[in-house]
Amino acid sequence: MQIIEELHPLRRALEALRAEGPVALVPTMGALHEGHLTLVRAARARGAQVVASIFVNPRQFAAGEDLEAYPRQLARDAALLEAEGVAVLWAPTVSAMYPAGYATNVSVAGVSEGLCGGTRPGHFDGVATVVLKLFNQVAPDIALFGEKDYQQLKVVTQLARDLGLKTRIVGAPIVRERDGLALSSRNRYLTAAERQAAPALYRALKKAGAEIGAGAPIAEALKQAREAISRAGLQLDYFEARNADTLERLQSSAGEPIRLLAAARIGTTRLIDNIAV
Ligand code: PAJ
Repeated sequence: MQIIEELHPLRRALEALRAEGPVALVPTMGALHEGHLTLVRAARARGAQVVASIFVNPRQFAAGEDLEAYPRQLARDAALLEAEGVAVLWAPTVSAMYPAGYATNVSVAGVSEGLCGGTRPGHFDGVATVVLKLFNQVAPDIALFGEKDYQQLKVVTQLARDLGLKTRIVGAPIVRERDGLALSSRNRYLTAAERQAAPALYRALKKAGAEIGAGAPIAEALKQAREAISRAGLQLDYFEARNADTLERLQSSAGEPIRLLAAARIGTTRLIDNIAV
């Protein structure tokens, strides 16, 4: 596996790689876990040469968020990716990504608004900007994103469609701990007590999903879920039912695909999760 930090060597490496078959990009911010590695395996299963990127993107962190604290462990991550058969690790420096005088912002309307976009203003502009930039640098045939960040997956899908990108966006299911907690690089911030309480988010999603799936009134199921999360000691950010395709608010007519999405804070850590109904 080649570890590359500058654009020119990346271009050279990609020329050689492309001769060997389709190229898949797995964008990450590092501090890798099984969720990330599952994306790599899904890319390999499609017969692609895998480029993984690690870049803690300052533009998607708001002031006061955990940009400085975000775990950085490039050597360990590189070993994990190499063991999964990744061909290239693209790990640009901040100045390679955003040179002095950088001025361009990418904003995807609609799907970026509300949910995490409501609590983290500008977050999805930062994501869309860096993802489009990574796509331009790597020019992948496919790119893999986890459903863990369901709204992000929708933002990137919309971006690729709107701009006619050649890259096909592929989503992958959420990888969870045994007790249901979705794997996240941020889980390491949790104290032992917080870690014990954290699966309440998934439990509430599962319960509400089962109830709504069985025909219970959505508003009542959401109300009970919000209460259960607060009782578990989490500070709820949002718990919503949305159209699974568009993320728009549900119409009253039945038959729409439904996704339940939730975010909550526990101590200083922000947890997000979602499930299909
Ligand atoms: P990061 O949080 O490192 O996640 C990288 C990818 O791994 C994302 O597509 C995310 O959805 C996926 N992922 C994380 N946890 C997962 C889990 N438990 N199961 C399945 N997939 C999981 O998301 C980002 O980085 C950034 O916003 C990025 C897209 C790299 C742009 O900076």
